[in-house]
Amino acid sequence: MPRPPKRAVLAAGALLVLAVLTVGAFTLGPFGRSLVQPIAFPHDLHAGTSRMDCMYCHYSADRSVDAGLPAAQVCAGCHIPGGQPLVRADKPEVQKLVGYWREQRAIPWVRIYDLPDHVHFPHMRHLHAGLTCQECHGQVQSMKEVTLNQPLRMGWCITCHQQKQVRKDCFVCHY
Ligand code: HEC
Ligand code: HEC
Ligand code: HEC
Ligand code: HEC
Ligand code: HEC
Repeated sequence: MPRPPKRAVLAAGALLVLAVLTVGAFTLGPFGRSLVQPIAFPHDLHAGTSRMDCMYCHYSADRSVDAGLPAAQVCAGCHIPGGQPLVRADKPEVQKLVGYWREQRAIPWVRIYDLPDHVHFPHMRHLHAGLTCQECHGQVQSMKEVTLNQPLRMGWCITCHQQKQVRKDCFVCHY
């Protein structure tokens, strides 16, 4: 059987990618609208007032694709040391935390920055290149509630890749 010309194979591939992408585009989260979290977690009090490092809770950001969202165990170190509710234990939001921890249930954090599945975003590559969390997520340490700080479009990724002379072929970011 004659092999199809290379160009035709590429075109068919591109069409498939486009079809998948168009469906994916509608799954992006809202820009600016707040989402209700299972526990109203205040970044300002932790990363601002208490000066906690972002990596204390998002500890996989510099060695994995995902920054990760913390399990109740990470919070328990301060709020439930030795199994005894402590810091702000009288507050309803901390009581919710104690509830998840006692029942050993995963806290169902709602994702805010969430790309469609066909886009590949490796956190560690960006942190190793010297970028800070704030360059992409804004001044999280002074936010009472984290919201999307921009619409998270492809043009945003491409613009920075262009400025910093990083590869920007389609298949760098799209599977
Ligand atoms: C290093 C210690 C530490 C860790 C770890 C920690 N917290 Fe806190 N948290 C505090 C302190 C201290 C305060 C009080 C800050 C203040 O009022 O100035 C606080 C306050 C809070 C409050 C606000 C309570 C209120 O209504 O005033 C909530 C909710 C909370 N923490 C939830 C969490 C959750 C959820 C986690 C894990 C993702 C967590 N904390 C991890 C130390 C910690
Ligand atoms: C004490 C733990 C803790 C610390 C410290 C912390 N975070 Fe978080 N972060 C959380 C939790 C819990 C959530 C999920 C709930 C929420 O969105 O508020 C979260 C969510 C986020 C999100 C949204 C993730 C998504 O769903 O898309 C971003 C972005 C973020 N954090 C960035 C930061 C940055 C930047 C810092 C440092 C300035 C930081 N965080 C410090 C616990 C922490
Ligand atoms: C170059 C931009 C960029 C930088 C720098 C960056 N992020 Fe992100 N972050 C993103 C994007 C884009 C997403 C959505 C990824 C996805 O959906 O696959 C995201 C998602 C997240 C999430 C959601 C959970 C997850 O694992 O995807 C958290 C939490 C987060 N970032 C925290 C951080 C923290 C903390 C830092 C600094 C240590 C940081 N980010 C640095 C762009 C960035
Ligand atoms: C603020 C600048 C900036 C933004 C915004 C940004 N990037 Fe990057 N990106 C970089 C830099 C710098 C590198 C190079 C890291 C290296 O050399 O290893 C990189 C590397 C990458 C790589 C690995 C490239 C390779 O050669 O293997 C991927 C994949 C990637 N970025 C995807 C994305 C996606 C998807 C977005 C948007 C959601 C995005 N980036 C947004 C600066 C950025
Ligand atoms: C640096 C990363 C990056 C590169 C390189 C990249 N994309 Fe994207 N692309 C994204 C992100 C992130 C999204 C999801 C956000 C959005 O829809 O804008 C996306 C979405 C798309 C969509 C859906 C957009 C919509 O509005 O429906 C199409 C189509 C697309 N990309 C095609 C391409 C093609 C073709 C190329 C090569 C010329 C390419 N992309 C290169 C990051 C990238």
